[in-house]
Amino acid sequence: MFHIKKMSLDDLGFAVRITDLMSWNLVEEDFKFMMHLEPDGCFVLLSNSERIGIATTVSFGEVGWVGNVIVSENRRKQGAGSLLVRHCVKYLANKNVKTIGLYSYIDKAPFYRRLGFKYDSEFSVLKGKSFSSPSRAGVREATKEDMQEVIDYDQTCFGASRRKLLEPILLNPHNLCYVSTEDDQILGYIVAKVYEEMAEIGPSVCRQGRNGIAINLLKAVLNRLQGFEVSMCVPKKESAILNMLKGASFSENFHVARMFFGRPVVKDCIYMAESLERG
Ligand SMILES: CC(C)(COP(=O)(O)OP(=O)(O)OC[C@H]1O[C@@H](n2cnc3c(N)ncnc32)[C@H](O)[C@@H]1OP(=O)(O)O)[C@@H](O)C(=O)NCCC(=O)NCCS
Repeated sequence: MFHIKKMSLDDLGFAVRITDLMSWNLVEEDFKFMMHLEPDGCFVLLSNSERIGIATTVSFGEVGWVGNVIVSENRRKQGAGSLLVRHCVKYLANKNVKTIGLYSYIDKAPFYRRLGFKYDSEFSVLKGKSFSSPSRAGVREATKEDMQEVIDYDQTCFGASRRKLLEPILLNPHNLCYVSTEDDQILGYIVAKVYEEMAEIGPSVCRQGRNGIAINLLKAVLNRLQGFEVSMCVPKKESAILNMLKGASFSENFHVARMFFGRPVVKDCIYMAESLERG
């Protein structure tokens, strides 16, 4: 009864409408970007010819990510969502992906567990208005010349090169990237994707256990984004970052569980996720 096809440009209106039901705030450009990153890995679920769900994937060598999993409300609990997720896993496995990550709503974790994903850790999705926050020395805005080093540095933490994702984000002149350096070596970086009135901070990757660097980078970006509505996804265990944000105007919107299918390779040096759908 259910079948799955590759997402095409004709499906973008549906993808936006169905995700609007969850207030994920995605626009057609977001799905175009996903299709640019993974042309064969964005899917639409159909019942006969009726579109009833979507899911997206992205592969970075041996690490992949699943996101935007959603089924029309009146078609749930009939096995459609499981079919969709299994299809994503199979697609990524065929691309030689060994580790698949996703961020799950807490109440959906049993659904993913049943499909072979294992709980890893929790992340808090925060929203608030950016505030004035001067940062200390050692942090500077990245230049084009830093891009290669940022991408290489990210790989040491993420476990695979996210070049195809990071390059377009870093090259977009609206976005911000700051690096923290010591003796000319990168100790961490942070990126903010800047839209008209809002911004999404992430990824931020720093040396494990050096959350002072992550805080300093975050301050530099918040300072630049004064007046913007900002969102970010921070590990729950990073209490110093969470307390700093909550002490200002930020509050937790919801929290999610990071889960992995296969061996978890991502190290404990992700201080902010890039996005829920891409890791
Ligand atoms: C998460 C979501 C995609 C699942 O889709 P779905 O089509 O309901 O998924 P399934 O039918 O395969 O599985 C859902 C449950 O129904 C059960 N089920 C499947 N077929 C069934 C049947 N014929 N009769 C009764 N129960 C059934 C499954 O065992 C599963 O139980 P579990 O959640 O306890 O593991 C759907 O709930 C959804 O779109 N939610 C809103 C968006 C969202 O939260 N997405 C996830 C982001 S992390």
